[in-house]
Amino acid sequence: MISKLISKETALVEHSIGERIRRIPLWRNYFAVSESMCVPAQKQADRDVKHCEPLQTGLKQGQKLDSFRILSMKYGGTSLSNVRFNLDNFDLLAFVTHLLEGGALMTLHGVIHRDIHAKNIIVDSHNVPRIIDFNLSILDYQSADADMLAHTYSPTLMQLSPDYIIMNALYKNTRGLLYDRVVNDIVYKRQFTKKLGTILGWTTDYMRAQIDAFYAHMRNAHMRNAHTVHDSIFMHWFNEFWPTIDSWAIGANIIQLIMHLSQWPRFVAMYNAAKPRLLPILRGLCAIHPLERMDCVEALHILNPGNRIIAKYGVSWLSDAVATH
Ligand SMILES: Nc1ncnc2c1ncn2[C@@H]1O[C@H](COP(=O)(O)OP(=O)(O)O)[C@@H](O)[C@H]1O
Ligand SMILES: [Mg+2]
Repeated sequence: MISKLISKETALVEHSIGERIRRIPLWRNYFAVSESMCVPAQKQADRDVKHCEPLQTGLKQGQKLDSFRILSMKYGGTSLSNVRFNLDNFDLLAFVTHLLEGGALMTLHGVIHRDIHAKNIIVDSHNVPRIIDFNLSILDYQSADADMLAHTYSPTLMQLSPDYIIMNALYKNTRGLLYDRVVNDIVYKRQFTKKLGTILGWTTDYMRAQIDAFYAHMRNAHMRNAHTVHDSIFMHWFNEFWPTIDSWAIGANIIQLIMHLSQWPRFVAMYNAAKPRLLPILRGLCAIHPLERMDCVEALHILNPGNRIIAKYGVSWLSDAVATH
């Protein structure tokens, strides 16, 4: 177990998120979240006492023990940004499948993580990845509103899809964030876009055209005369595309991992063998236009048609997706 000592307010939020994630079937295989919370004290009457390290020092003047909580969770390994895979027993397709299973379970349960980057994926000693840090997540997609979705303008973060960056920037409409400037940032300045082009074989012009096609789709459907994105357009975008927020991010992490591991010839051989199955999935997960983007359930189904999570929980999701396309 690992423990963290944080303010009571933060702990209450994080722990209630943990409670929600722990209701997802098989959650332990795919996620690591807070499992117990207790008040630090020299003597514990709490039933979670066995998880708690008594706090003895470190309180500033005026702070009371009661304003802190200790959260405990299973140790899940090293973050994906730091892990050193032993390539002898690393199976790229199994790794991707596992991440997609976690993503599919979240999607099927209406959870949107929104911040799946390489430090929020931890990898254990068996090369099993788990998603952590649900602090920005939307736990029930039907309860979301525009203020919950909005964030600061940050086009460099690879976990954000181009459509999310655009909708968010135009919704916030601060500092003169106009469409052309935002597209310019995404297509020409963002490092991750270059990686995407390299791995998936997409030209800059193609990616730019896909972004314009997305924007035209939004304008035609929802914003004929509007020059900025307001609440309702932001929510139209969300309602149509929410399952692709995390699937983009999972695809982006895999692409980043492939770029990183490609410095080892051994990995390149493994990647080349996996390419025929993997590339269509990556092109689907990281499709620039969200209308063309696969969600994790769809991607998992294509990568691994007999998958037990799909068979058990995903069949009606897939038939609904076929019906609406
Ligand atoms: N269960 C865990 N097992 C191993 N490392 C963890 C675990 N939870 C968190 N960490 C490590 O601590 C870091 C910060 O935790 P995180 O929950 O992402 O909080 P923050 O909100 O500060 O990003 C992670 O990037 C990861 O390296
Ligand atoms: Mg984090």
